[in-house]
Amino acid sequence: AKPALPDFKDCIEARQPNGTPINCCPPAIDKIEDYVPSATTIRTRMAAQSFTVDSDYYKKYSTAIQKMKNLSLTDPRNFLQQANVHCAYCDGGYTQKGNPNLLYEIHYSWLFFPWHRWFLYFFEKICQNLIDDDTFALPFWNWDAPEGMQIPPMYNSVVTSPLYDFLRNPDHLPPSVINLEWCNGDTTVPPNDQIKYNLAIMYTQMITQSKTQTDFFGSPYRAGDDITTLSGAGQIEQTPHNHVHSWTGTTVDPSNPINMGVFYSAARDPIFYAHHANIDRIWTIWLNQLKGTNITDVDWLTAYFIFYNEEAKPVRVRIQDCLDPTKLGYTYEDVPIPWLDASA
Ligand code: C2O
Repeated sequence: AKPALPDFKDCIEARQPNGTPINCCPPAIDKIEDYVPSATTIRTRMAAQSFTVDSDYYKKYSTAIQKMKNLSLTDPRNFLQQANVHCAYCDGGYTQKGNPNLLYEIHYSWLFFPWHRWFLYFFEKICQNLIDDDTFALPFWNWDAPEGMQIPPMYNSVVTSPLYDFLRNPDHLPPSVINLEWCNGDTTVPPNDQIKYNLAIMYTQMITQSKTQTDFFGSPYRAGDDITTLSGAGQIEQTPHNHVHSWTGTTVDPSNPINMGVFYSAARDPIFYAHHANIDRIWTIWLNQLKGTNITDVDWLTAYFIFYNEEAKPVRVRIQDCLDPTKLGYTYEDVPIPWLDASA
């Protein structure tokens, strides 16, 4: 078999879930170069709840996002263009290389963790570049610990902040506690009970249900596979990943979710990147604390994606080159992991 690859030359119109077409193709490109990271310094991605809007960190972070928003739409580093990268890779913007009748997709399979890791890597590089500070690291939304089980203050305090998004569910703003398996509709659960349920959900997903690589990462996705019939999402991708999206971005009309609630627009909410930094951190926990191991199948290792780097140039990156976060130049703040012993 061969890896499933995107046909990057051939970006087509994507589809919103209701069938409406949306053009999220990136600006035209010419030459794509291979890229292998080799960081020499390590930055620490910190838990988002530790920063207020008075912090220096907030100043840097919000400046970076504002600058991304201010870039011209013809610049692939522009904030909306970055969100479109996600849209094109998950709503049928690309066909599968060599199989033009099949759409390419980075969810529902073993591509989920590495694709989003690379996406955040370049997003973070672009932030660093725009504020001219290569010590900058993205924050993570620590929704797997009680301290992080709300929308973190930075994203919600100031409506004029570039980190604010009007298209979040108004019923889920602080102090509302997230429900890590939320599905359209709220039941009234006392916050402390919800926190306990959330920890039990994390325990179930990470320990009871993620016994094998396929459980954790999702099923193999190779050239010629039809993603629409594969249904191979890993445990964490299903819960809590999908539910954090829908809890944040689904309003009264569940058939018409907004920003975070649906793939094509999810990355238009800056909190997307903090959500995915936590998903990425959970990958490191699965390896380090839970002694999981990375996939060694060459169709996974050699699968590639194309992103725009901090100089707005397209680069081709492979899964095998993102497996060591220290080579990518980051690590995660060592916060408590209370669900490790939260069996229900
Ligand atoms: Cu690409 Cu959280 O989705």
